[in-house]
Amino acid sequence: MSDARKPPPPPAVELATPPFAGVALDPAPRLQGKRVTLCVTGSIAAYKAVVLLRLLRKEGAEVEVVLSRSATQFVGAATFAGLNGRPPFLDMFSPAGGELHVELGGCSDLLLIVPATADVIARLAAGRADDLIAALALASRCPVLIAPAMHPNMWDHPATQRNVGALLADGRVSFVGPTVGEVASGDVGQGRMAEPEVMLARTVAALRAATLGGRHLVVTAGPTAEDLDPVRYFGNRSSGKMGFAIAERAAARGGRVTLIAGPVALPTPPGVVRVDVRSALSMRAALWEALGAELSAADALIMAAAVADYRPAETHATKLKRSAASLQLDLTPNPDLLAEIGHARTSSLPILVGFALETDDDEGLLRYARAKLVSKRVDLVVANRAEESLGRDAVRALLVTGENCSELRAMPKTEAADRILDWVSDRLQNGAT
Ligand code: CTP
Repeated sequence: MSDARKPPPPPAVELATPPFAGVALDPAPRLQGKRVTLCVTGSIAAYKAVVLLRLLRKEGAEVEVVLSRSATQFVGAATFAGLNGRPPFLDMFSPAGGELHVELGGCSDLLLIVPATADVIARLAAGRADDLIAALALASRCPVLIAPAMHPNMWDHPATQRNVGALLADGRVSFVGPTVGEVASGDVGQGRMAEPEVMLARTVAALRAATLGGRHLVVTAGPTAEDLDPVRYFGNRSSGKMGFAIAERAAARGGRVTLIAGPVALPTPPGVVRVDVRSALSMRAALWEALGAELSAADALIMAAAVADYRPAETHATKLKRSAASLQLDLTPNPDLLAEIGHARTSSLPILVGFALETDDDEGLLRYARAKLVSKRVDLVVANRAEESLGRDAVRALLVTGENCSELRAMPKTEAADRILDWVSDRLQNGAT
């Protein structure tokens, strides 16, 4: 809280959910609920697909593996089956019947071809459907990410470059790598497959792209300044970085973003409509303007602003003069902007995300966050400790909902912004109407 006076902590008996003891702080996985089909073709780099499979599963993705006939010459089906808990697909013709390429394509959020040989790239460019992987790529409408791996002479060959150009021109696939480095033969050049961590990062980015397309998000950021006279004010140390990072990432993911910013010196992120405000009361007016009278003009509100809890009871028109006597100031509570909106909401939209900035340990953080979930009627509270957040470029936080609590380990605020937006976009896609 920003002002000098702090209300007593909420009593534990008011908590709607069990106390901290026994709660596991799971790191929030980035691919929870995402279905990825990992297609492996025949290259020595196929072993890196095994590493990628592990990384994908660690991030919570549900993975189906497809091996081409030649892939099995490099890594056995048993390796993938053991790691994935289910056997890979090896053939177009499923024992269960049906059109496997259409079914698998239809339920995938992303198709990965790792490694992709010169041969599979040529077949994709020609629109062939002569094995399960090529047929899948034709039948799927999800993003397709390809990681080429081949000898530099094969990558540089005009035929391969023509095929890559044709695929890029079609706009249906994107490439990660190949990089310049040593390839299996010991030769050096462009043809080395991207590293699994790089492929994972591109996978996460591909699945996030445009997930907020057509959605209107209202984001608040920074402190509010509560004027005492024309030169003095009450404020707090909020830098606005978290809210601005959320606005930037939401716009990059296709959202229409209104950023209501308190007094901060930060550049407006590209594509974001910014409304500058000063006090809590002016932020309140801007919020209701952006959300619409019935709260029907936005899909989500993310209240990252550190709204001052109190304002001077009187704002003097002229500068107060110094005197030798002590000065008593009367402070009036500001309205709780988020709680007002939470109590006015009559449906699941807009999704409401609040923040809690505390100086307690994790146990206190969780207790306060859960109390805020209930008292402000919000869907998610992002709880962080002042020393792990305030004014910094990185943040560690707990994401607390009515159902569970997960931990965002210390990470740049832009990455934390994406994690919060992952939660919002999942919620928008799965149920909030
Ligand atoms: N908030 C608000 N209006 C206020 C104060 C806070 O909308 N007058 C919002 C903030 O934007 C934030 C959340 O409520 O999303 C923070 O809750 P709050 O109870 O104010 O927490 P702190 O001020 O951080 O802590 P305390 O509970 O100690 O006051």
